[in-house]
Amino acid sequence: MSSDANVAKAGLEGVVAAQSSISDVNGIEGRLIYAGYDIHDLARHATFEEIIYLLWNLRLPTRSELNELKQQISQASQLPPEIHQLIRAIPATASPMDMLRTVVSALALYDAEAGDMSSAANLRKAVRLTARFPIIVTTFQRVRNGLEPVEPRPGLSIAGNFLYTLNGAEPDEVATRTIDVALVLHADHELNASTFAARVTAATLSDMYSAIVSAIGTLKGPLHGGANEGVIKNLLEIGSLENVEPWVLNAFANKAKIMGFGHRVYRTEDPRATHLREMSRQLGERTGETKWYDMSQRMEEVVKREKHLNANVDFYSASTYYALGIPTDLFTPIFACSRISGWTAHVLEQYASNRLIRPRAEYVGPRDLQYVPLDERA
Ligand code: COA
Repeated sequence: MSSDANVAKAGLEGVVAAQSSISDVNGIEGRLIYAGYDIHDLARHATFEEIIYLLWNLRLPTRSELNELKQQISQASQLPPEIHQLIRAIPATASPMDMLRTVVSALALYDAEAGDMSSAANLRKAVRLTARFPIIVTTFQRVRNGLEPVEPRPGLSIAGNFLYTLNGAEPDEVATRTIDVALVLHADHELNASTFAARVTAATLSDMYSAIVSAIGTLKGPLHGGANEGVIKNLLEIGSLENVEPWVLNAFANKAKIMGFGHRVYRTEDPRATHLREMSRQLGERTGETKWYDMSQRMEEVVKREKHLNANVDFYSASTYYALGIPTDLFTPIFACSRISGWTAHVLEQYASNRLIRPRAEYVGPRDLQYVPLDERA
């Protein structure tokens, strides 16, 4: 080990790698705050648009500030024609997260401000990205099913426009508020893996689009945002309430990780899961199909009993989105449609007080080997 290097902490567990005013997770008490406000309070009362403003400005907006932000989002939500063409060219079989990563990268090519590093231009890019994420996802969903894209409608919220442009029909209030709360709950989570990736990229003074592409690629993994799709895959595979317990026991016997459980920071209930569990239950009762909620609840009981692991944000979001009829491979993209607000907030914060993020590795390989000419190697 070089004299100036520390011993590596596997997965950087417990390492504090940045100062931030955006959000804070208290894993012991199971508390999450966005810029000082408790997530329970925000989930009950705030809209996603208010959260976006809060994360970018570290205070709640006045009515006129909120209206201005909504107008900016509405004006920015239409996709450039080249992006429509690109989405049509992407294979219908592509994973929507791969599609999103590709399209967001391409958005930079059609943004005259892509390389403008002024804070005003970066804030405008944050607006455009946040406005366009849901429309990219729903446009792809329609195009891959042979349907014409639906233009976002001015006056609808981000949640409302997500459902409207997905289904091409006026969304109902319960579905809209469910998506809105889900967006509030997923918006930021301190230095999670994708946000860290975004900050590392931003800290090289690369542009915002590059930072967000890094984040999308990181969110996609099954240990992070990809877990919600894994949860519904498992539930569909299990198929019935009585199969839940044997399936879980078998998974543990095979040392498999069960998606939607466990967390690096929380040692108690993830406060976001509390709201998603309740929304999943209510939607199940409303549609008369409580099977997925019932199975989820049983799985939660067995996993807790056997391994003392808690459900995380991804666990009940799966049955919630499923109850809304959302295609399962759009679950992780919905996470991205929310987290783009937090990613951009962190990128703006990083730019405002930047230092290159460049940690060390603990070298564990050999040293002092002598070069062997190619012909002499065994
Ligand atoms: N299913 C089964 N066992 C799990 C588990 C899960 N979902 N999550 C953690 N564990 C077990 C591990 O096997 C390990 O057991 P061991 O000490 O006997 O080896 C122990 O709990 C600690 O887990 P570890 O993987 O070291 O925790 P981590 O902090 O590195 O990982 C997660 C955190 C979130 C990646 C991990 O809990 C996980 O893979 N969960 C499933 C994926 C998921 O839902 N991700 C979304 C997170 S919001």
